[in-house]
Amino acid sequence: MFTAGILTISDKGSRGERQDKSGEAIREILFRTDFRIVNYDIVPDEKELIIEKLIKWADEDGLDVVITTGGTGLTPRDVTPEATLAVVDRIVPGFAEAMRAESLKKTPHAMLSRAVVGTRGKCLIVNLPGSPKAVRECLQVILLALPHAVETLKGQAGECGTSEA
Ligand code: MTE
Repeated sequence: MFTAGILTISDKGSRGERQDKSGEAIREILFRTDFRIVNYDIVPDEKELIIEKLIKWADEDGLDVVITTGGTGLTPRDVTPEATLAVVDRIVPGFAEAMRAESLKKTPHAMLSRAVVGTRGKCLIVNLPGSPKAVRECLQVILLALPHAVETLKGQAGECGTSEA
């Protein structure tokens, strides 16, 4: 089992004015996987608050993966990618590329998401867009590679070249 955190980034959600259906969508999908959700929170679209949470969950709580939802678009309040880039030490472009490529088959608006994926120490941080529909569509894509990503990050994977997948 791997440990996971869900961080919903939403001004309205943080004020209790909107139900967090996107966080629930992530929870439902991860429920059927080897990822156990140990942390969950909602923060407003404030860069410093997002940074604080990502650092705590990665460094102090030692989570294997943190999945964020929301704040990846182009509104003036959208700062999730900037907060993520401020804390990661390596970017993993393939995840975001794959999400956007598959999503573009469903909606041209997929190109509006600036989501990034990167690592901080042994923690993988994944941005997802904010709508429950986008969460489901994007998470399904990366779920195929997520366990192996976390295994390699933790140094638990065997020789990559010898596996079938
Ligand atoms: N990706 C998928 N798969 N499905 C979607 O419906 N919506 C897009 C995009 N990515 C969408 C998607 C839209 S409309 C926006 S504005 C951006 O994600 C950014 O969303 P966010 O600001 O809520 O993160």
